[in-house]
Amino acid sequence: MPIKVISGTALHTPTRGRLEVLENVHILVDETGRISEILPSDHPRLAEVRAHAEAQGNLTELQQGQFLLPGFVDLHIHAPQWPQLGKALDASLEVWLQKYTFPLEARYSDLAFAREVYEGLVEALLANGTTTAVYFATIHLEASLALAEICLTKGQRALVGKVAMDDTGQCPDFYRDADASTAVNETRAFIQGVRELAGCEDPLVRPVITPRFIPSCTDSLLEGLGNLAEQMDCLVQTHCSESDWESRFVQERFGASDTAVLSRFGLLRQNTILAHSNFVSDEDLTAIQHKGAAIAHCPLSNFYFANAVFPLRAALDKNVHVGLGSDISAGHSPSILDGCRHALLASRARQSGIDPRLPPDERGISGSAVSIPEAFWLATAGGGEALGLPIGKFVLGYKFDALVLDLNTPGSNVGWFPNLDTLEDLFQKLVLNATRSNIVMVWVDGAIVARSPSIHL
Ligand code: GUN
Ligand code: FE
Repeated sequence: MPIKVISGTALHTPTRGRLEVLENVHILVDETGRISEILPSDHPRLAEVRAHAEAQGNLTELQQGQFLLPGFVDLHIHAPQWPQLGKALDASLEVWLQKYTFPLEARYSDLAFAREVYEGLVEALLANGTTTAVYFATIHLEASLALAEICLTKGQRALVGKVAMDDTGQCPDFYRDADASTAVNETRAFIQGVRELAGCEDPLVRPVITPRFIPSCTDSLLEGLGNLAEQMDCLVQTHCSESDWESRFVQERFGASDTAVLSRFGLLRQNTILAHSNFVSDEDLTAIQHKGAAIAHCPLSNFYFANAVFPLRAALDKNVHVGLGSDISAGHSPSILDGCRHALLASRARQSGIDPRLPPDERGISGSAVSIPEAFWLATAGGGEALGLPIGKFVLGYKFDALVLDLNTPGSNVGWFPNLDTLEDLFQKLVLNATRSNIVMVWVDGAIVARSPSIHL
């Protein structure tokens, strides 16, 4: 018998750009948090299965105006930058890092401060429907382990990285690893620590090797971390080709692109998460695709720091794995639904171009705009594919990471007019207009991790 049954109408995008409406279905979840069956309302075993779940208090029945969606995947977020959300975005990337961000991140040597911030952040993300997050922490081993432990305690699926950065030219004395071997050893200790905390079989929280970005790392650190990834079979994340300044810096130092340098050091691997990747060439995209690495598209922070718009369509056309990242706090929204909206806008800016004085056929790049189901796929199943995890859609064997969107919450921005709107129309409205206040229940691995106090479920 399944341990849980969730009954209602579910909306998801199991393949890129294709909305599927599962009307009045019953999703059965087993003791490992996986979807074991999806039954239609006329299934002969349904009454028995539902009665059993109800007797155990494990039946959730969605009401009129409530819809089930897959949980959101945030492929790139800096947990320690949460206190800086919405602040200090008036500088360039290189100034922002030195003037605001490194001083803030240095404070996480204080474990009590780290715990306070991280607990608030993980709760806020879960309430926004982010069921999986791929975090950069800071250089501090203890505080980074605390973030992993908080994700476990609060039930969020997470990949957590202790940041590595040792280059004396780019990192201030008050915020850098002592040297490459210390950074590699502490990263190894961090990986072991997270694996001990979370276990090794199907863990909810996993470690990620995290060279901050090429400019902040010496060659020996990049090499040491590449070797460590192979030895410990560990995921990697980093920033890649984010801005003019950053990509030129790497070209001048190595005479090669970020992607080529990461590959040279063994850091471009299966499911490596590359944040941004705005200035990638076709050759870079081919290399990323061949290695099975993935891009975290961070459209909001790109508007502030990138000096360009990510070539999303080019990446998708080459079958590169792509998902969305909030890039807090270079992005100032914790909501991955906002991420969908920003991805839609960025793709339209790329399609239209920016200079109305140019003739229409010289302004933008036709075919760049993505559709609403494509944006939603990036936020859910696309993020899951990027990580190689069975999440982001309602499919047998996939993890039940999901949320309920309720149209009846006070002050809701989503209006549904059943005589005017099909469920396809409603899906568009949800993606464009729903807010945190519409998200009334959230599950990860089949367990409830957030629930609005006013919900009747
Ligand atoms: N490049 C190196 N560090 C960072 C960071 O914290 N945020 C962003 N957006 N880019 C970076
Ligand atoms: Fe970032």
